[in-house]
Amino acid sequence: MSIRTLDDLLGEGVSGRRVLVRADLNVPLDKQTGDITDDGRIRAVLPTLGALVGAGAKVVVCSHLGRPKGSPDPAFSLRPVAGRLGELLGADVRFAEDTVGDSARSTVDGLADGQVALLENLRFNKGETSKDEAERGAFADQLAAFGDAYVDDAFGAVHRKHASVYDVPARLPHVAGRLVLREVEVLSRLTGEPERPYVVVLGGSKVSDKLAVIEALLPTVDRLLIGGGMCFTFLKAQGLEVGTSLLEKEMVETCRNLMERAPGKIMLPVDVVAADAFAPDAAHDTVRVDGIPSHRLGVDIGPETVAGFAAALSQAKTIFWNGPMGVFEMAPFAHGTRGVAEAITKADAFSVVGGGDSAAAVRALGLDESSFGHISTGGGASLEYLEGKTLPGIAALEN
Ligand code: 3PG
Ligand code: MG
Repeated sequence: MSIRTLDDLLGEGVSGRRVLVRADLNVPLDKQTGDITDDGRIRAVLPTLGALVGAGAKVVVCSHLGRPKGSPDPAFSLRPVAGRLGELLGADVRFAEDTVGDSARSTVDGLADGQVALLENLRFNKGETSKDEAERGAFADQLAAFGDAYVDDAFGAVHRKHASVYDVPARLPHVAGRLVLREVEVLSRLTGEPERPYVVVLGGSKVSDKLAVIEALLPTVDRLLIGGGMCFTFLKAQGLEVGTSLLEKEMVETCRNLMERAPGKIMLPVDVVAADAFAPDAAHDTVRVDGIPSHRLGVDIGPETVAGFAAALSQAKTIFWNGPMGVFEMAPFAHGTRGVAEAITKADAFSVVGGGDSAAAVRALGLDESSFGHISTGGGASLEYLEGKTLPGIAALEN
């Protein structure tokens, strides 16, 4: 693997050169107010941007936000992100009203050395995510025209074969930014020879989203702890009734096979919090997993499960955690996620938190980020890395 790095680029000198930086500024926004609810991904790209600014580059930042459908949609504008980025960088960030149009051109042309511009959402253009090589390529040509060099610091998007991630590096001298390097360095510790016991905690709503990573990790891990909405499909596979909990019927057989393949490795909840409705004020109780009332849905793992998971985690030397244990956004159902997160911080282990939701949970619950070994900015990207898949954004940097 031969990836050139930001330091290589800085070594060549970037003063006065236009450097196009692909960042992942896809931050969560409050549905009502549009405010940024977690700026972790903005902070994560500051080391790269700060270094380029300090070296006198003309820095052109681009990113996606959310999943707009290939045309401008104000709900997904990066404008609020430009403001926050400017505050955090302590520098004026000039915002372009479009991605590759007149506004972008004049903004980029007007940059002085050491200035930063942010282009509008890449996904306002069909070419960004197109499956058609020519359509993607045409958009990549327009983007590449804004840079003399390209830096990929969008770890959260390296699993996407998108124009800004995959096609632009084929058109410009390209390097990996500090965040991408650090992420790959850390995650490779998990795929290499992790110190044992290696314990993985998975949550989140769907088994189908996590199936590939479960398949890939099952032979490698010592324990796999499963909570979150996805645990109910596993409980069903054990013959239990799960009331109105999230259930992927078509995955029940798959879950049964997984448990048979690795007897004793997969640890499921023994108790859960069951509620009348998906609402923070819904009536709820802790019940045994064999006693979930037919009219109720599971919204969190229970205290006995937390204790069991914590005991397994306390033995671990390496931990990977992806996905909340319950509906942590609703305070009454955040105890499971908090309990597991706290157990991870207490373990004498190298711990990695992967996934936008788990990273946001760590911060929303007020936990100390520095008590984890690494908090990945990648959700899908970190999972696909652990699955051993070729990531288009990384492959593009290797060429
Ligand atoms: C993420 O949030 O995981 C990344 O920003 C990628 O976003 P996407 O799943 O919409 O491609
Ligand atoms: Mg190369």
